[in-house]
Amino acid sequence: MFGNILFEADTGMNCCVVGLQWGDEGKGKIVDTLAEHSDIVVRYSGGANAGHTVIVGNDRFALHLLPSGVVRQNIVCVITNAVVVDPDTLIKEIDTLAQKNITLDNRLLISENAHLVLDYHKKEDQLREESLGKNKLGTTIRGIGPCYADKVGRSYAVRMADLRDLEKLGAKLQTIIDRKNKIFAALYNAEPISADSLFEKCKSYADRLLPFTTDTTEFLHKSITDGKSILFEGAQGTLLDLDHGTFPFVTSSNSSALGMSAGCGVPAKMVDKFIGVAKAYTTRVGAGPFPTEQDNEIGQYIREKGGEYGTTTGRPRRCGWLDAVAVSYAATIGAVDSVALMHLDTLTGLKEIKICRAYKINGKETNFFPANTARLSLATPIYETLPGWEEDISEVNDFHDLPLNAQNYICRVEETIKKPIAIIGVGPERSEIIFR
Ligand code: GDP
Ligand code: IMO
Ligand code: MG
Repeated sequence: MFGNILFEADTGMNCCVVGLQWGDEGKGKIVDTLAEHSDIVVRYSGGANAGHTVIVGNDRFALHLLPSGVVRQNIVCVITNAVVVDPDTLIKEIDTLAQKNITLDNRLLISENAHLVLDYHKKEDQLREESLGKNKLGTTIRGIGPCYADKVGRSYAVRMADLRDLEKLGAKLQTIIDRKNKIFAALYNAEPISADSLFEKCKSYADRLLPFTTDTTEFLHKSITDGKSILFEGAQGTLLDLDHGTFPFVTSSNSSALGMSAGCGVPAKMVDKFIGVAKAYTTRVGAGPFPTEQDNEIGQYIREKGGEYGTTTGRPRRCGWLDAVAVSYAATIGAVDSVALMHLDTLTGLKEIKICRAYKINGKETNFFPANTARLSLATPIYETLPGWEEDISEVNDFHDLPLNAQNYICRVEETIKKPIAIIGVGPERSEIIFR
């Protein structure tokens, strides 16, 4: 009905996949699927806070920094400037894949301008969260906020290119760690970290990662000129975007589609299609307002049936009904061409399914999502209720073979979010998918 995305992707076009909720929408699965028809897959924001799952047969891959296209041996993988790279996690990921005979030689490029997440960032993230007690943000403790803060502050930042001059880096680390240790002691009464041992680790990062380090912006523009098909992989989701999400309960990067260009140096007008990914319901990890949350047996049903436990931290995800106001906002600011609606199978067995089509805030109805957390906290969802279905849909691969109530649900979501739903997820495995 809306054109075959896979067919179009085959003809040298560039696509960007972006999350339309609070992350974990199923981006990994969609990127892995679309990568079949791509030459290059690019991670352009966030860090090892991301957890993207790809399931192929009996193999399950949980990717944190490598683009989800990596599972396909012919794909060139690119990590661009706005990604904050935790070298320990990246090296571990490379080694884990090598054990499964998936190698990265000659097909991984890391931006020399990407910033490094080092031990003191993770320590600071943890100490700050602990000290905030019940007011904590619920971060992934992957050092994301402290690393981006150093990037914006500039003076104490370390980038991939700094690994090329170890002598200079050693001196810089000494200055940085002196300062960090003063902060750890003064604010948290915490143990200092050792500049020497971090410097030793940096030497091994240089050995392992410099062979992949280059100017990724130049590479991407050359690839576009050569007619290569590029898939851009968003991390997190639009509602976690630092500027456009539910601040302060967000991550520290522009995780919406708006972050793509700055994140990799390729302007949005060079991308042919933006594909938004959403679940057929809503989840959230960490703190912050969540108007359609079902902290009851419905939420529990979704969590258990959908396996809603964090890919990165293992935390149980908060679950609730589909918030079409939020998805519509994310799809609008990302100007997405179409939507992939995942986890339709998880709703199977529910007698009734609800869609939040508008909010009531201070007695007034609105269908434009307020990214202001204070206003969002006042929102009462206005629901529409649809009948559910009982049939197992995990083997359905044609939209018209879905139970009528499932078809109606999809069509109603489409009308409410005002975007075409071109892909439907009916199970975690690569093949459990419907293209319309
Ligand atoms: P991402 O961060 O957006 O890549 O998503 P995650 O990988 O963190 O979480 C999505 C979870 O849902 C993973 O466990 C996937 O294997 C799983 N998944 C993806 N699509 C579907 C689907 O359509 N149905 C079901 N049941 N599981 C899915
Ligand atoms: P993917 O790419 C879900 C959430 C954290 C926390 C907030 C800030 O798998 O969709 P941070 O560690 O970034 O400072 O945490 O953001 N968060 C995610 N939630 N999926 C993610 O990534 C997330 N990355 C960060 O739970 O609420
Ligand atoms: Mg995830």
